[in-house]
Amino acid sequence: MSQTPNATVSGTFLIGGDIPVHRLGFGAMRITGPGIWGAPSDPDAARATLKKLPDLGVNFIDTADSYGPFVSEDLIREVLHPYNGLLIATKGGLLRHGPDKWVPLGDPDYLRQCVLMSLRRLGVERIDLWQLHRIDPDVPRTAQFEVIAAMRKEGLIRHVGLSEVHPEDIEEAQAYFPVATVQNQYNLGDRKSEAVLDYCTRHGIGFIPWYPLNAGRLAGPGSELDAVAKRHGVTASAIALAWLLKRSPVMLPIPGTCSPEHLAQNVAAAGVELGDTEFETLGRLAV
Ligand SMILES: NC(=O)c1ccc[n+]([C@@H]2O[C@H](COP(=O)([O-])OP(=O)(O)OC[C@H]3O[C@@H](n4cnc5c(N)ncnc54)[C@H](OP(=O)(O)O)[C@@H]3O)[C@@H](O)[C@H]2O)c1
Repeated sequence: MSQTPNATVSGTFLIGGDIPVHRLGFGAMRITGPGIWGAPSDPDAARATLKKLPDLGVNFIDTADSYGPFVSEDLIREVLHPYNGLLIATKGGLLRHGPDKWVPLGDPDYLRQCVLMSLRRLGVERIDLWQLHRIDPDVPRTAQFEVIAAMRKEGLIRHVGLSEVHPEDIEEAQAYFPVATVQNQYNLGDRKSEAVLDYCTRHGIGFIPWYPLNAGRLAGPGSELDAVAKRHGVTASAIALAWLLKRSPVMLPIPGTCSPEHLAQNVAAAGVELGDTEFETLGRLAV
């Protein structure tokens, strides 16, 4: 694979039926400090990584108010505002009390504050895709869904996504607003969300797999993943992503990195065409 990688060739998906994005996106969680807390250890690399996204055809960027917290949204605004043609998807609904600590809070007043503050930090009048980071089990879900529906009606949010949910949750939420995307952990090595993915595929809901680079048992040198990567002239990370892209037309992987070099390696996945046998073999061997 010698040509410059470009996410354009990963295909297009319409978020909420009306915002086109290239299917291979970027996750902006890793442009923060250890434990997703504070500033990144190499802020120049973080800025350079973000700056490179449009050149590589990546126009779908996933972030959250809790990444840093605020660090990721602030950097995205600094480097990419006014976003010409980029969709910045953010999330809210988690408290941060320290590195690696994530606490759901679905109090409707708090969810509204999350949206209002993300609007301010990102410098936009409406968030095109706002995702509820977690449904808070300690707050009535009707209250959480109602405030999201209200914010959508008020025009603060255009489309709504959910994270770490089951089909029943999606159906419950659909009574309040259309669910445009679902963001669950899913990758070659972890297929617990297979049924949710199939549900999203059937209903044309965007499925955003997080931790997409995990290859489970296939990670490491000398593996089948490595052999396939060598055959295609790309890295193992690109093959893990190419496998996801082939798995479903609603799949929108958001690999994260703080390195421009890794970003280019990952975007190369867009140009990889896995054969059916390669796809089946990798899928079977990874779990
Ligand atoms: N909804 C949720 O609950 C949830 C949870 C977690 C994450 N997310 C989202 O999903 C995105 C992706 O998840 P993730 O960051 O956990 O997993 P990931 O993208 O699968 O992996 C990121 C890790 O892989 C490394 N990496 C990236 N490209 C590489 C390459 N080409 N070669 C070698 N190493 C590479 C990165 O380090 P380097 O910086 O050194 O490249 C980083 O440590 C996040 O950015 C975030 O937007 C959502």
